[in-house]
Amino acid sequence: MLKRIIITLAALAATGGAAAAQEVKVGLVLPYTGIGAELTQQVERGMELYLKLNADKVKPYKITFVKRDSKAPNGAEAKAMVQELLTQDKVDAIAGFMYSPDAIASAPLIAAGKKLAVIVNAGTAFITNLAPEYVRTSFTMWQSGYTMGVAAAKTLHAKTAVVAYTDYPPGKDSLEAFRHAFEANGGKVIDAIPAGGPGQVPDFTPFLQRAKDERPDVLYVFVPAGDHATALVKTFAALGMSAAGIKLIGPGDIVQDIKLQGMGDAAVGLITTHHYNADLDNPENKRFVGAWKKDYGADSTPDFMAVGGYDGMAAIVHAIHATNGKLDGDAAVKSLEGWKFNSPQGPIEIDPQTRDIVMNEYLDEVVMGPDKKLHQRVLATIDQVKDQCKALEIGRCKQ
Ligand code: PHB
Repeated sequence: MLKRIIITLAALAATGGAAAAQEVKVGLVLPYTGIGAELTQQVERGMELYLKLNADKVKPYKITFVKRDSKAPNGAEAKAMVQELLTQDKVDAIAGFMYSPDAIASAPLIAAGKKLAVIVNAGTAFITNLAPEYVRTSFTMWQSGYTMGVAAAKTLHAKTAVVAYTDYPPGKDSLEAFRHAFEANGGKVIDAIPAGGPGQVPDFTPFLQRAKDERPDVLYVFVPAGDHATALVKTFAALGMSAAGIKLIGPGDIVQDIKLQGMGDAAVGLITTHHYNADLDNPENKRFVGAWKKDYGADSTPDFMAVGGYDGMAAIVHAIHATNGKLDGDAAVKSLEGWKFNSPQGPIEIDPQTRDIVMNEYLDEVVMGPDKKLHQRVLATIDQVKDQCKALEIGRCKQ
């Protein structure tokens, strides 16, 4: 008995009297430099805000991040960093993957490493088929693209569309998703224009001029969020395309909240489909945006990347508890199949079959508010949208 008390006292002394928090190491693979760096700041702030607002839910665990720079959006560096995190840092889980090529190139290592890997942005639909450890809390390009294909035909009554897209996997996905739904509902995509790559912002003038000459009812564009989106909207305005009777539509990536004010009047009237905008009117989002502005400044705003980080962190915390902090790959993934969460974007769930998120899509319009700032107004809510690429078993989405 005495011996047991001495051991207990010694243990207490070693931990300063408090029970030792069990450390969980999460490797973050995100672009800390280059074109994606400002997007990473949003993801990280979203993660940190989740941990701060939910400190009680994290206890008794302590999450330590091991951060690795995935640099340019081509997958090479991300793959090397995943290797390092798994074999040298021996992390318990991985999160991140801003760009689809990063998640695609890393997939064989993720599958071999057998650790939970939470995708907080990369949107190409088939990615989750590449490794059973991938769980996605962000979105697929089909969720926004398909929803817009239906809305363009049925709500906007468009008959013809031209699509311009950044020429890499999520751009091709977004094109196919839009085309599939638009044409199934009576529309016709009359041209699809590859418009440069994700690594640097191209001059959009020749691509949009070609679209203008074709006089479609709508121009559907996917570009990755960030500086691409600002340049796109400004070029659309500079070419007088609205006056020519062409409506610019796309996934919400083209009106990312952190870029919106910088787009100015050119953005007014843009119609998009997405799972999040900072103006969403629900209690969770009010709390999220309020806490964000308090911590990061009244003029700052979260966006869909921030919510991807927030929801990703919530998923990891859930998996940590469900596995008693062990996070062994299979059990961690299993614990997230069917997981439900009340996110700032609305209710979300992880589809147990695909490990992809199921969430609301909002049909949004950019409006100028009485405060002379641009806002996103929800025109319609489409509840609990699944990834249609997998539901319809299209191409590499077939399991
Ligand atoms: C992607 O590479 O999958 C990606 C990047 C930025 C976005 C959307 C998708 O805004």
